[in-house]
Amino acid sequence: STLQMYVDPVPCIPKVYGFTVQGGKPIATPLTIGMYQKTWQFHRDLPPTPVFVYGTSAAAATFPGPTIVARQGVPLPITWQNNLPSSHILPWDKTVPTALPKNGGVPTVVHLHGSVHPPQSDGSALAWFTAGFAEKGPAWSQATNTYPNVQPPGNLWYHDHALGLTRVNLLAGLIGAYVIQKPSIDDPLDLPTGPEFDRHLVIVDRSFNKDGTLYMNPVGVDPAVHPQWRPEYFGDAIIVNGKAWPYLSVKPRKYRFRIINASNARYLRLSLSNGLPFSVVGSDSSYLAAPVKTPSVLLAPAEIADVVVDFSQSKVNETELLNDAPYPFPTGTPAGSLNGKVMKFLIKPAGKTDPPDNSTVPAKEVNYATVTSGDATVTRYITMYEYLNAAGQPNHLYINGLRFEDPVTETPKSGATELWNVINLTGDNHPLHIHLGMLQAIKVQELLDLPTFYSCMTANNDAVKCNITAHAVGRALPVPNYEKTWKNVVKIEPGYMTSVVVKFKIVDTNQTFPFDVTAEPGYVYHCHILDHEDNAMIRPLKFIA
Ligand code: C2O
Ligand code: CU
Repeated sequence: STLQMYVDPVPCIPKVYGFTVQGGKPIATPLTIGMYQKTWQFHRDLPPTPVFVYGTSAAAATFPGPTIVARQGVPLPITWQNNLPSSHILPWDKTVPTALPKNGGVPTVVHLHGSVHPPQSDGSALAWFTAGFAEKGPAWSQATNTYPNVQPPGNLWYHDHALGLTRVNLLAGLIGAYVIQKPSIDDPLDLPTGPEFDRHLVIVDRSFNKDGTLYMNPVGVDPAVHPQWRPEYFGDAIIVNGKAWPYLSVKPRKYRFRIINASNARYLRLSLSNGLPFSVVGSDSSYLAAPVKTPSVLLAPAEIADVVVDFSQSKVNETELLNDAPYPFPTGTPAGSLNGKVMKFLIKPAGKTDPPDNSTVPAKEVNYATVTSGDATVTRYITMYEYLNAAGQPNHLYINGLRFEDPVTETPKSGATELWNVINLTGDNHPLHIHLGMLQAIKVQELLDLPTFYSCMTANNDAVKCNITAHAVGRALPVPNYEKTWKNVVKIEPGYMTSVVVKFKIVDTNQTFPFDVTAEPGYVYHCHILDHEDNAMIRPLKFIA
C-alpha cells in the first residue's frame, strides 16, 4: 500500500543566524553545527526513519538541517562536528574511490554550494573526518570553515562532500539551505517576506522499506565490479522539507518559494495544476535582471529556483505542485502517479484581519556583469563520458577520460573569465557544477555526425583533433530566460556541446577574490548527479597565480 498524499503540513525549517545586529551594525556570530543520527517522521503513517542530519544540537537537528542566514560582508566561521555512529545506515561501496577510515566511523565533510571561499574551507572530498575528528582524510586542515560572504546576496545550500560517500551521506539527510542577505538589495525588491510568506521548499526523492528505514539499492548494476553502486538513485516518494507529499495552507496572496532540488539524481520539472505561473526572481545564488513568468521550471539536482506565486489569481481553492520530468532526464521513464506529484497548496479565503499584500513582483532586479565570451582568456573543451560493460551497464563515468586522482588539467588564473565548451557523449543530461566559479550557458549546439565524433573521441580523447567545430553545427537549443544569470549549476544536454562562460571573480563588482585561491587543496568541478560524482565524474580545479 502506498502512503496517502497531502496528510502532513509542510514543516517550516528552523533558521540559525550567522550574525547579530548590535547598534545597527552586523557582528559575526560563529556557529557550531553537528551531524547526528536520529529518527525522522517522513509521513504520518510511516514508522520513524533513521537519518543523519545537521543541527545545533541532536534535539534541534532536522531533515533538512537548519537554514543558515548570513549577512553579506560578515564572515561566518562554522565548526562542523561529526557526531555520527561507527557504522553507516546505508550501503557503502568500497570499490568506488572512497574515504576509508581504518577504525570505522562515517566520513563526512561539508561543502557550502555556491559560495566563494578559500580552498581550505571548500569541503574538499579528501578533507573528510570521522566522529570527534578521530580520523581525517589527506586534505583535512581545519575544524572550522570560514565563509567570507563577499558575494552578492542569494540562495546557497550546504551538503556533505566526502569522497565516494556523497550520494549516500546526502541520501541519509546531510543537506541544508544557506542564505546571504543584504538589506539594501533585498528590501527594495519588496518581495514577499517573513517566515509565513517567504519559504524554502527543499525537495528530494526517497524510497522507504516497510520498517520505515530509507531504501537504497543494496546491489549494483554490475555487482562483479561495483557490488552496490548504481548510476542513479531514484525514490518514488517526493519529500518536501522532510515530509512526503505534504500540503501547505496559503492565503490568496503572493508567496516567495526558494525551491532547492536536493535530490541525488532526479530532475524536477515543476508546474502548478491550476495553471498559475511562477515568476522566477532568482536562479541558483543569483537574482535575475528582471522576473521571468513561466508555467514550468526545470531543476536539475542541486539547482535552485527562487519564485513568486500569486495565489490570489487562482480560480480554484487548491492546486497541486506537479513534476513531469522523466528519469533519468531527458529520455528515461516518464514521471508516474507518485513521483509526478510533489505537494498540494490549499488556498484559504482571505481573513477579515489579514493585512493587505504589499509585496510585489518587481519590474527590475539586479544587474551583474553581463555575459560575453569576448573577455574569455582561455577556451577549454570538457567532455563527459560513460563507460559500459559488455552487458551494456554503466561501470563508471569520467570527465575528459580522466579519473579524479589523475593530474590536474584545469588550472585557471584567479580573476579569469573562461569559455568551457562542454561536450556530452552520454545519453543523459548532467548538471555541471564548478566550485568557486559562476557559470552561464551562452550556446547549446547539437553535435552532427555524432558516431564519427564519438569513435574519434573514444580513441583520441581530444575534441580539437576530432574536429569539434565541424560537428558542433547542429540545431541550437535556447537557454531558458529564467536561467539567464550567473549560476552554480548548468545542465549539459546529451549529444550537444554547451558553451559555458565561467567567471572566477565576484560577479556584481567584477573584483577578484579577496583570499588566496591558489592554496591547497584546491577546488573541484563535477557532475551533480551524486551517483556520477562518486564514480567519478569529478576533477580537480587548481588555480595558478
Ligand atoms: Cu553541491 Cu561539489 O557540490
Ligand atoms: Cu552526471
